[in-house]
Amino acid sequence: MQVFVYKNEAEVGKAAGMIVASEILKKPDCILGLATGSTPIPTYQEMIRMNKEGILDFSKVRSFNLDEYIGLSPEHVCSYRRFMNEQLFDHINIDKANTHVPCGIGADHEADAKAYDAAVEAAGGIDLQILGIGHDGHIGFNEPGDEFVSGTNIVTLTDMTIDANTRFFEKREDVPRQAITLGNRNIMAAKRIILLATGKGKARAIAQAIKGNITPKMPASLLQVHPNVQFLLDEDAASEL
Ligand code: PGA
Repeated sequence: MQVFVYKNEAEVGKAAGMIVASEILKKPDCILGLATGSTPIPTYQEMIRMNKEGILDFSKVRSFNLDEYIGLSPEHVCSYRRFMNEQLFDHINIDKANTHVPCGIGADHEADAKAYDAAVEAAGGIDLQILGIGHDGHIGFNEPGDEFVSGTNIVTLTDMTIDANTRFFEKREDVPRQAITLGNRNIMAAKRIILLATGKGKARAIAQAIKGNITPKMPASLLQVHPNVQFLLDEDAASEL
């Protein structure tokens, strides 16, 4: 595990953008694992900038997002499909048919989870996974628990996550209580992982993930045993290390 500390979130975004760029230059049809939330937005802005400047070509890139809320249609203003379109896909030359976000509105969520697992595997697995981290240490939407879940699964969100994500919705009651998420096995199978964290609110989770015991009560701690993971932090997120 490597830890890099930058002055602010813009610098984290630039560094992460360069890592994404190097992956695409090395393998133009690479598979990116993408995350939602506020943290990766500066990274996506860097990716958009490099695409607009003609430095980076997404035409062969494929992507799999980590998660989606159960019950929100892709068109819903708070869905992660909509977020990805608005924050990234609509602004780069990626083929939307090559972008994947789990389905949150199917009739059989378990079947959808299995199909998503199979699609990731059929594509050859994730080359570069971008991760955020929850205040409670979740990665994807894999919340703290008694065991490390493995493949794509349906999770119940913790109160802490619902509180944190209320800012994207009109009111707390509107935040879905469940989500479909890639599991820890899927994430750990990625060839390379970059975890991005910015702001004081993430400092405790970051310290526990990096220095604490490996435990499902702190899902991000599992990354300690991944062979190719870099934590890209701003000074605030690194302040309890
Ligand atoms: P955030 O979310 O980037 O909006 O803080 C991160 C996460 O929940 O994984």
